[in-house]
Amino acid sequence: MLINKTADILASEITPKEIYHQRRRFLQQAAAIAAAGATAGLLPYSSEAGQKITNVKKSPLSTADRLTSYKDITSYNNFYEFGTDKSDPARYAKNFRASPWTVSVEGEIKKPAKYQIEDLLKHFPLEERIYRLRCVEAWSMVVPWVGFALRDLIRRVEPNSRAKYVEFITLHDSEQMPGQKPGLFGAGLDWPYVEGLRLDEAMHPLTILAVGLYGELMPNQNGAPIRLVVPWKYGFKSIKSIVKIRFVEKQPLTTWFRSNPREYGFYSNVNPTVDHPRWSQASERRIGEDTLFSPKRKTLMFNGYADQVASLYTGMDLKKYF
Ligand code: MTE
Repeated sequence: MLINKTADILASEITPKEIYHQRRRFLQQAAAIAAAGATAGLLPYSSEAGQKITNVKKSPLSTADRLTSYKDITSYNNFYEFGTDKSDPARYAKNFRASPWTVSVEGEIKKPAKYQIEDLLKHFPLEERIYRLRCVEAWSMVVPWVGFALRDLIRRVEPNSRAKYVEFITLHDSEQMPGQKPGLFGAGLDWPYVEGLRLDEAMHPLTILAVGLYGELMPNQNGAPIRLVVPWKYGFKSIKSIVKIRFVEKQPLTTWFRSNPREYGFYSNVNPTVDHPRWSQASERRIGEDTLFSPKRKTLMFNGYADQVASLYTGMDLKKYF
């Protein structure tokens, strides 16, 4: 695999009249790259863990909080498709095939397209974004994600005026994801895992599609090859191993809301003043740093991102829309 497209357009979007010019530009570029003896930062994608991602810029939107270790981030996971224990995903996702991988973008948009994962990595500007991740279970981590702004992709596909929400869907393949099989190993959820955002939340500059962490391709247990990260919401909004992104008119029926609407709202904004029906959300434990005996770490409104995102919810009753 090397290049089969030009840098400024994806093959899936090419209309026939553009093909001639595109092919000419491709030949010129291929010649230039061959002459330079380099691959211009292009990355032969493989699902092998530990592969470095090139051309990643540091983002000014990163937090200065201390990073959680690679080991903790990759061994303490929620990915119920691979079991409900925190150590299950690292163990059972080892042979998951994250390549080849296609993400289908469809629904209320002018330019539906199917993107190969390599195209997304090559085309969109990749940044390292260090974000806090606050799980609904009252623990948190600090993760150096590598990804691109979801809004870059949204602008490319041009939503129409009926697009009010964005729905995200995980791969459904119980042969590869044993937790999707009925039985003791599964979490009793409806598969595939579905999440959703309002279009303005999806367009917010903090919302990213992550393709890696710690400068390397996404480990399987963290949602290879591509997952959502919405840092001001509880971790379950950050859906893993996405195969479909659909623009819709109505609020999507998301997995956790469907399984228990009293406990898991659609918005799921981190909010220390709205407790989960079975436990407090006022504080949290930072994985790898805090023990059960450490003083409680206070949970911040919108997970500390209030300055950037509070205006999205002006006038909304956040106790009702939790
Ligand atoms: N996505 C899918 N498809 N399946 C899941 O079970 N778990 C969610 C979210 N995304 C989950 C998922 C939850 S509850 C959390 S807290 C985060 O992933 C955990 O991400 P991490 O394992 O990378 O820390």
